[in-house]
Amino acid sequence: MNHTVLTGDRPTGPLHLGHYFGTLANRVRLQELHQMYVLVADYQVITDRDVPGRIQHNITELLLDYLAIGLDPAKVTIFQHSAVPELNQLLLPFLSLVSVAELKRNPTVKDEIAHSSQSAVSGLMFTYPVHQAADILFCKGTLVPVGKDQLPHVEVTRLVARRFNERYAPVFPLPEAMMGSAPLLKGLDGGKMSKSRGNAIALKATADETAALIRAARTDADRHITYDPERRPEVANLLMLAGLCLGRAPEEIAEEIGDGGAARLKRLLTEAVNEFLHPMRKLRSSLDAADAREVLTAGNARARERAVLTLEEVRQAMGF
Ligand code: TRP
Repeated sequence: MNHTVLTGDRPTGPLHLGHYFGTLANRVRLQELHQMYVLVADYQVITDRDVPGRIQHNITELLLDYLAIGLDPAKVTIFQHSAVPELNQLLLPFLSLVSVAELKRNPTVKDEIAHSSQSAVSGLMFTYPVHQAADILFCKGTLVPVGKDQLPHVEVTRLVARRFNERYAPVFPLPEAMMGSAPLLKGLDGGKMSKSRGNAIALKATADETAALIRAARTDADRHITYDPERRPEVANLLMLAGLCLGRAPEEIAEEIGDGGAARLKRLLTEAVNEFLHPMRKLRSSLDAADAREVLTAGNARARERAVLTLEEVRQAMGF
């Protein structure tokens, strides 16, 4: 099957190992197999905060992360919302295809509202999933690699595509979500891994920063190391991360450490992570903001060409 793959990230901070094993590694694989677009979702940053913040800085950092992990701009179109007006213009007809009740039912939106620190919920918070439908449909995306929290948005996208096709003309494919197969990594404190909680190892962190983060990681009182995700989630999480970096089974690593305790586990993990990230960090240090800018300029132009064609088709189908 020949897919058009589209996925993306909000440029709000550095990518970390959770992102890597959750979706980034998969992207590097997919770029060899399919036509692929990766979106720097810059307009989506203002859904859960009032202002975009250090947006240029965050975009540059995200681009450098992408290049460091091995996304190849010759194979992948990397682009940003704010540079593709025709994509954004799809939002208007798409919004006419969904009801306010449907917008209010989206579980991910509800969850984001519950965790938002904003004093008022903006209209964009309720409508960004439809904007995300435009992200996916502007290039007629058929495969969307995402985490579980994004599934409702892919559902909205299918709804929009189906209704457009029924009401006007068969313009859009119905995209499918693709969930990563890697187990969910927790943060180093045992909570949800998140860039804002300081419990994640950023891909661009230095070897020393990595060592400090792992040294402070939560473990438990049992000195004998075993892989027991049910009863020893923190230790199991560290073993799993070591396993992912080393390409080994966590049980086997646990057995090897045995009575060496948390100290030995942390030493092994630090070495494994730093070794694993070394080539990415090395590549990253050879790149600068100008490289990021260049990649984005070329990707934006390519994405825009695609968006112009789709918008024209949409206009035609609607009779404008
Ligand atoms: N909502 C996604 C996130 O927060 C980012 C995103 C924007 C996206 N548009 C997309 C993901 C389209 C997949 C497809 O991570």
